[in-house]
Amino acid sequence: METLAPLVDRFGRPHDYLRVSLTDRCGFRCRYCMPDEGVEWTPQDQLMTTDEILHLCRLFVRLGIKRIRLTGGEPTLRRDYMDIVHELSGLVPVQITTNGTTLVRDALALADAGLAGVNVSCDSLQRDRFADITQRDALPEVMAGIAAAQSAGLMVKVNAVVIRGFNDDEVGDFVRFAVERGIEVRFIEFMPFLGNNWKADSVVPAREIRESAHRAAALTPLPGTPSDVATDFAVEGSRAVVGFISSVTESFCSGCNRIRLTAEGKVKTCLFLPPRTSLRDLLRQGADESDIVQSIRDDLSTKWEGHPSMKSWTQRDNLSMVQIGG
Ligand code: GTP
Ligand code: 5AD
Ligand code: SF4
Repeated sequence: METLAPLVDRFGRPHDYLRVSLTDRCGFRCRYCMPDEGVEWTPQDQLMTTDEILHLCRLFVRLGIKRIRLTGGEPTLRRDYMDIVHELSGLVPVQITTNGTTLVRDALALADAGLAGVNVSCDSLQRDRFADITQRDALPEVMAGIAAAQSAGLMVKVNAVVIRGFNDDEVGDFVRFAVERGIEVRFIEFMPFLGNNWKADSVVPAREIRESAHRAAALTPLPGTPSDVATDFAVEGSRAVVGFISSVTESFCSGCNRIRLTAEGKVKTCLFLPPRTSLRDLLRQGADESDIVQSIRDDLSTKWEGHPSMKSWTQRDNLSMVQIGG
């Protein structure tokens, strides 16, 4: 496979991590993710086809992408997602971020397909709260899914978005959960996206979350790399890890190595910048490979050094989180 010059932005940041949204559909309605009025699902014919996804991912791998994460909406709602995992895992390590509801059914098959890891969203360990935030009474299903993924030998991380007055009293419970299950739990600062009812005072700063976690257990910092989104700590005396993702109060853009494809095949250079060129359209128009590569490089060259200011996040012409996939 002929390699191409790697993707590097104007600030010298190499981009070797591709996040591909497979669909904007999701069976949950998380309040921090899905606008209250819902979103209009992208019609099937506008989503990238299996072949388009594989074609573009292969091209990105030649451009130096070293790992791929499949996101949504809920990526497991696409009927071809297992084939995509299988095909792409032959190229680079592939992970998914999921709401966990299909893991009881699919964990073993995912392990067989070569999946390198799964991140499961779970914002409360209390059934009524979980149902309240997701608008689905699915905590038992998700817990069973996490267990199934662990039994299948998959690397599992749990993502909890911390929201003031909703689940900020559960940090200690999540740390204990990480210890009981021997897994990683990551606490995420609540970020603003289109229609997600974000307010500055709903954000619990990572510093405060860290303090709560330290009260629950002795934590030792783990070494990381500049492109990590989470700052990780080992929980002493256990196999558990807790991580803190501080996008709002301590942003980590200087090490950003992420480029995204929306489910419609548009390049997104940052969570907080609008989507750019549709690579799906270029493919459908029969564009030359060199034109597609040039388009990716041109889009990447518009990436900012940091993300836009927090105040402007709420006003910008961004997508909703369910359309971006994180
Ligand atoms: P790992 O590879 O396991 O570290 O996963 P990940 O953190 O890259 O992916 P995941 O989908 O689990 O995302 C966890 C959280 O990090 C979500 O809230 C994402 O929105 C957030 N996140 C991921 N990439 C970025 C980014 O480039 N910028 C910011 N600000 N947040 C990000
Ligand atoms: N702020 C922070 N994280 C979010 N996620 C979804 N919406 C938000 C938000 N507003 C997380 C989900 C999922 C990951 C892809 O992004 O919990 O785990
Ligand atoms: Fe919830 Fe993820 Fe679905 Fe958003 S995409 S509604 S965070 S499960």
